[in-house]
Amino acid sequence: GTNQMWGGRFEEGNSSEVIAFNESISFDQRLAKQDLQGSLAHVKMLVHTKILSPIDGAQIIGGLEKLQAQLAAGTLQFSSAYEDIHMNLESLLQQEIGPVAGKLHTARSRNDQTATDMHLFMQEELGQISDRLVDLLKVIVTKADQNVTTLMAGYTHLQHAQPISYAHYLMAYYEMFMRDLQRFQAAQASADNSPLGAAALAGTTFPIDREFSARELGFTKVYQNSLDAVSDRDYLLDFLSAAATVMMHLSRFCEEIIQWNTYEFNYLELSDEYATGSSIMPQKKNPDVAELIRGKTGRVYGELFSLLTTLKGLPLAYDKDLQEDKEGVFDAVDTVKTCLSLFAGMLETLTVKKDQMAAALQDDFSNATELADYLAAQGLPFRQAHQVVGKLVHYGMDHDLPLQEMSLEQLQQFAPEIKADVYEVLAPKQAVARRMSLGGTGFEQVREQIKRAQAKLNGE
Ligand code: ARG
Repeated sequence: GTNQMWGGRFEEGNSSEVIAFNESISFDQRLAKQDLQGSLAHVKMLVHTKILSPIDGAQIIGGLEKLQAQLAAGTLQFSSAYEDIHMNLESLLQQEIGPVAGKLHTARSRNDQTATDMHLFMQEELGQISDRLVDLLKVIVTKADQNVTTLMAGYTHLQHAQPISYAHYLMAYYEMFMRDLQRFQAAQASADNSPLGAAALAGTTFPIDREFSARELGFTKVYQNSLDAVSDRDYLLDFLSAAATVMMHLSRFCEEIIQWNTYEFNYLELSDEYATGSSIMPQKKNPDVAELIRGKTGRVYGELFSLLTTLKGLPLAYDKDLQEDKEGVFDAVDTVKTCLSLFAGMLETLTVKKDQMAAALQDDFSNATELADYLAAQGLPFRQAHQVVGKLVHYGMDHDLPLQEMSLEQLQQFAPEIKADVYEVLAPKQAVARRMSLGGTGFEQVREQIKRAQAKLNGE
């Protein structure tokens, strides 16, 4: 037979292959809650504007509320014969209340309906993602607060560069994730826009009140152009691009955790809870969780590109290609939420090997800049100071002698300006403490960063 909802002009039904290809109920059933919410707002608006009688309205509302209860109880049965969530719910409504159910679709189309569902879904999920991001930010700040004086090598080119505070390192990620939070909040604001009432593409002849239904659904704006309302997926791109960026940050952090958890670095140890073993090598403790977060970053990038590519050639207004917006977004939502909470747990429970971190600074010449700065402060042009210290480093490497272990005489052979007070600046702790420029790793600067972050997070 032909489709009940749109089959009037058809003589033949679709082949089972076409039905399976065309359907979206297998994934858009995830929008059942939003679809019922949208229908309730729509029918209330139809009654409010006197397009539907209060009696019909009450029957439809009663039926939709029954479906809500069945959804909550997990007893709703969907079928691919009804293609998508919209027609499945409408046919279930019909089973509940009979032919009056057919009046629900007055002044509405599945095109504005599916867009409404996705806007509601996205706003809700973005709220949850932001909450998880705030939880991660709190873990980072707590760890930073506990590690202001934990010293480590700061790297450029993955070579020891200058000593820094481990808290300073952590707070760099605080900044990145705070920007991510702002991006998710901006995506939430772009999802806050009601397409309901745009109908198929051109609006409707019925005297609807789009602001009424928008208010019912908690939207603060309504789309100002009906063609745009049914074809816009920018708010999903805003989410996906924020999702790709937060995953990129998580992935970089994971890469460092993976390296630092190696025998060679030995800066960290993952808790047993977030590490896995090998079925062949008994000694192994693998950072699978960190690797999987790094790996899953690729699929979230893919979902951003997939939607951009889907959209690039689409003529206005609705095209069925737009049904492809859902699976990637659902997957990105699930991936980001899972990765954020697993990452927070992994970070919270890993052990920082402070002694190993500090030991790596003992004979690595990462205090060479301190000596160059010391000489420059005595009036030697910095370029010249750099040359001299380079020669000292060369000498130290040849003799297996870090700068702080050279005698004053040895140092003075290279630069007579050097005095006994040089040893104070050569200690890694001093190298960190003295970097008091704004945003630098100096302990006091780091404490200020942490204080600002705590104040901000307590306000969130
Ligand atoms: N299931 C569709 C989607 O998710 C909604 C229906 C679109 N309308 C149509 N005439 N095919 O995009």
